[in-house]
Amino acid sequence: MSSVIKIAIDGPAAAGKSTIAKMVAEKLGYTYIDTGSMYRALAHKALSRSIDTTNGEELKNLLQETEIVLVPSETGQAVIVDGVDVTEDLRTQQVTAHVSAVAVHPGVRQLMVDKQRQLAEGTGVVMDGRDIGTAVLPHAELKIFMTASVEERAMRRHIENNERGIETSLEELQAEISERDRADSEREVSPLKQAEDAVLIDTTSMSIEEVARQISELAEKRLSR
Ligand code: DC
Repeated sequence: MSSVIKIAIDGPAAAGKSTIAKMVAEKLGYTYIDTGSMYRALAHKALSRSIDTTNGEELKNLLQETEIVLVPSETGQAVIVDGVDVTEDLRTQQVTAHVSAVAVHPGVRQLMVDKQRQLAEGTGVVMDGRDIGTAVLPHAELKIFMTASVEERAMRRHIENNERGIETSLEELQAEISERDRADSEREVSPLKQAEDAVLIDTTSMSIEEVARQISELAEKRLSR
């Protein structure tokens, strides 16, 4: 019987991974790691310095001289870059529009994966992203591939944005999410893909609580093995 396990949650943009991962981590007393925020942190810093996001070498160098610290917070996870809390800045349309381009570069991904593995070492974690079950934690005891229709994902993001006082059109959100799915699935290095041993959960007609319960039950089963 294992005392702690590692849980990998992958899936397309805005499928609810972070919300669910946070809830499951809290329930199990595990560390929650949102790997998308690390790519967003690099995109944000690159944009603030007008660095071309198609230049992999420059981005890799920039990442090497960047300190990204993830801190558990009331809302889930705060992101501190070079000592500054940039959590809120990482959700802007500008960062969202550029992050997939930043995540394409093999040199950038290698450094991110190394860092993510270090963060997961020797502890119970719930890690969400695109390549956790396939590349970062291939031996995770529980792998989930979480999806939902693009219409449902755009609608959820639309409601979430409204609640935060951000006006967004549903059509634009659908287009942005579809484009990000395409870019993340078609990139050469560790594209978004369901791991062979991942459990597929289509959350289109499920409530957040139902999804969290299903994953927690699966986690309990793995823990009692
Ligand atoms: O989960 P998110 O929307 O915050 O992720 C932002 C982007 O980062 C996503 O479009 C692709 C990239 N990403 C990635 O390539 N690999 C990960 N493990 C996590 C995110």
